[in-house]
Amino acid sequence: MRKDIRYNVIIDGDEFRRAQAAADAAADLPEDQIDPEAFYVSQPWERYNAENHEVWATLVRRRLETLEEEASEVFLTGMRLLGLDKDRVPRVSDVNDRLRSLTGWQSRGVPGYLPAKAFFACLAKRQFPTTITIRPKELIDYLPEPDIFHDVFGHVPLHADPVFADFLQTYGRAALHTNDPYHIERLARLFWFTVEFGLIREHGRVKLYGSGLISSIGESPHALLSPDVDRRPFDMDRVCDTPFEIDHYQPILYVLESFEQLRDAMNDYAERVLDEASVAA
Ligand SMILES: [Fe+2]
Repeated sequence: MRKDIRYNVIIDGDEFRRAQAAADAAADLPEDQIDPEAFYVSQPWERYNAENHEVWATLVRRRLETLEEEASEVFLTGMRLLGLDKDRVPRVSDVNDRLRSLTGWQSRGVPGYLPAKAFFACLAKRQFPTTITIRPKELIDYLPEPDIFHDVFGHVPLHADPVFADFLQTYGRAALHTNDPYHIERLARLFWFTVEFGLIREHGRVKLYGSGLISSIGESPHALLSPDVDRRPFDMDRVCDTPFEIDHYQPILYVLESFEQLRDAMNDYAERVLDEASVAA
């Protein structure tokens, strides 16, 4: 039985409930009526306690020990451009001040789980739904759901890169506007094998960029070095045809040659998806 874990619930009760209700309701709305502003929440930064800041600092320190070697230079450049605080949970508003002039992306606090269409509606507006709670110390090594470490440390540095930034928005637009189960499943696989678990070749070496790998101390060496991992060259159709498995280390990963490759493949796919969606409408 799961023991009682003590979370620091920093979000105000009423604001949280209103935002979650709006997010849940978005599941039944037509795409053009989904308004992400209704389900964003503020980040009451002063409510983080000493344990929260310590967990952030410990996670960042542990990951930086190897990421300089393991991570994509695009990710590392993004991290430097954002000036992420290494000692304390970052203020999302500080991150957004930096992002605004770089790519126009913004991180926006959300109360928790968003229905898929609500999530895509945010991406289509260059807004990244960001969990603002942080894992308790007892779960420092593994938390199944996202927290601010996974979302801000793991995802957001890539949003500082103009090419990745365009890819992610185009992804959001395509995923928002298709209602074809075939494309919905394929786009979920694409997200998994790129945004969450993607690898990229830089200067002849395979590096990490997916947030699930960036934020995981255990899976990174496995992804890069294990002979049990099938590292395949990125190919849009092949990625979209590959089912993924959760809850254990990934046996199949896809390696990009560049983020331009991903952006261009996404542009082609989005054109097809959006054409089909407009014919169906
Ligand atoms: Fe993620």
